[in-house]
Amino acid sequence: MKITSMQFVGSVAKLWQLPKTRLPEIAFSGRSNVGKSSLINSLLNRKKLAKTSSTPGKTRMLNYFSINDVFYMVDLPGYGYAKVSHKERHAWKRLLESYLSKNDYIKGVIQIIDSRRGITKLDEEMLNWLSFLELPTLVVATKVDKLPKSKARHLLQAIEKEAQQLGGFSVLPYSSVTKIGKNELWKSIDGLLKLTDNSQVKN
Ligand code: GTP
Ligand code: MG
Repeated sequence: MKITSMQFVGSVAKLWQLPKTRLPEIAFSGRSNVGKSSLINSLLNRKKLAKTSSTPGKTRMLNYFSINDVFYMVDLPGYGYAKVSHKERHAWKRLLESYLSKNDYIKGVIQIIDSRRGITKLDEEMLNWLSFLELPTLVVATKVDKLPKSKARHLLQAIEKEAQQLGGFSVLPYSSVTKIGKNELWKSIDGLLKLTDNSQVKN
């Protein structure tokens, strides 16, 4: 896809605040600090369109980015951040639950995991839930630039095996630093935007 325009549309804390112009959406999900915002920036060749931080829990709302006025990338708030109150965590869960389950515009979910940590318990919960909702989902294992060379293959194979077992998810190795996987991810996003049936992405 050739990007001709991109723009931050706004942050959403309640579902009634969703953008008035409805377009297909690609959502980026993952635990706090995993690199969701960095990945969106790397896809768009921007440094700071999506706000990133070394402090976890930076993205607390759904952030909408309009691409070519054709679809939205939605940067979801990260889960698993320990330092939020019970109340806030509950609010986050409700927002995400209603966003994902009552939204016909979502064409696919890019589920981001840390390639060094693999699929954690919370990632697994999220994947099970995405499966249940029958949302087309691609697992992206990011920060591969941080993997020790000697272990990279083994770690990625283990992630692939687990993702397959969890629900036939494909895994794409990625790095927002080296941009490895970027072309493949764009291809998958193009594919998701064209998908009409709710099946998992095979690559
Ligand atoms: P929250 O908004 O808090 O949920 O975090 P996030 O998932 O949006 O993570 P963010 O993109 O803010 O990145 C968190 C940290 O990881 C930052 O310090 C980034 O520079 C770093 N980071 C993100 N992606 C990569 C990557 O591919 N490689 C390396 N080495 N660092 C990365
Ligand atoms: Mg973020």
